[in-house]
Amino acid sequence: MADLKKFAVIGGGMMGSAIAQVLASIDGASVIVRDIFDIDIKAKVRGNMKLLVEHGVVTEQDVEDRVAKIEFTKDINDPRIADAELLIEGVLEDMKLKQDTFAELEKVCRPDCIFCTNTSVMSPTEIYSKIEHKERACGTHFWNPGYLIPLVEVVKTVNTSDEVINTVVETLAKAGKKPVVCKKDVPGFIANRMQHALWREAISIVENGIADAETVDIAVKNSFGLRLPQLAPLENSDMVGTQLTYNIHNYVLNYIEDSHKPSPLLQQMIDEGKFGFRAEDGQGFYKWDEESKKKANDDLSTYLIRMLYGK
Ligand SMILES: NC(=O)c1ccc[n+]([C@@H]2O[C@H](COP(=O)([O-])OP(=O)(O)OC[C@H]3O[C@@H](n4cnc5c(N)ncnc54)[C@H](O)[C@@H]3O)[C@@H](O)[C@H]2O)c1
Repeated sequence: MADLKKFAVIGGGMMGSAIAQVLASIDGASVIVRDIFDIDIKAKVRGNMKLLVEHGVVTEQDVEDRVAKIEFTKDINDPRIADAELLIEGVLEDMKLKQDTFAELEKVCRPDCIFCTNTSVMSPTEIYSKIEHKERACGTHFWNPGYLIPLVEVVKTVNTSDEVINTVVETLAKAGKKPVVCKKDVPGFIANRMQHALWREAISIVENGIADAETVDIAVKNSFGLRLPQLAPLENSDMVGTQLTYNIHNYVLNYIEDSHKPSPLLQQMIDEGKFGFRAEDGQGFYKWDEESKKKANDDLSTYLIRMLYGK
């Protein structure tokens, strides 16, 4: 059983700070975070944990104990990076940047340091193309907010050793995560393939005038969305029977969206500046203002804390 304690996180942004916070929850852990800009990583982690304190999941002392295990450096040659047993990269989603970052890290890190990339959608196999010891490297796809959502998809490249996959899974489980192994390096890994099949259909329903955006979301929240955490698709398929699943698919798959391109409606919205939260006037499928945007984020965190911790 691997008992890793020395961690490095490369990139101290939204995901990097959450990942550092998660790794620091392991007993005896130390986490060094590296960014190219000066970042107050301890303040970021305190910020992440504020709501957990307010809901009574952790105490102020727990926060300070966690923060004490996380340090920051701008120096890639920092000995704490050189000595790390497992490193997770969370720099920007740019293939060349990630490839060059790992090529640079391979020169600095000990030869048995496990390399993980938190890429959202890019191929870990391609990300590791410039390193020599490819068997030590895999994907670890955390979900935002990374300190709350339990899932981490551990992505096996064509070169990753089984030992490395097992060690990463064990380590993430110790940090309170729910790691799952994605056995093939495929775009979207496991969960985003399903999530975006659903989004494609949701957008198509609006585009085809079957229902408006609000109705689509109401339908989800008041039907399968409600039972999904308890009854996932394949359990549900067994529950209704695979024969019924077959009959439904045999009929309905002829009609649901199967486009391999983003929806023309999405393109039109982009052309019209309807970027959602990022639009100047807050227009997307809905109309947002600063208050409703903050409320949407706060409501999500509060909901997740209630679901995960019962608080
Ligand atoms: N945001 C999400 O919801 C989400 C979810 C899962 C995965 N991801 C992935 O995680 C990664 C990070 O995303 P984020 O949202 O935290 O981005 P972010 O912009 O918040 O953070 C990226 C950080 O990387 C730093 N950086 C850039 N070049 C660097 C270098 N050479 N060395 C060290 N640090 C460097 C930046 O200064 C910045 O602080 C991306 O690959 C992203 O696709 C994001």
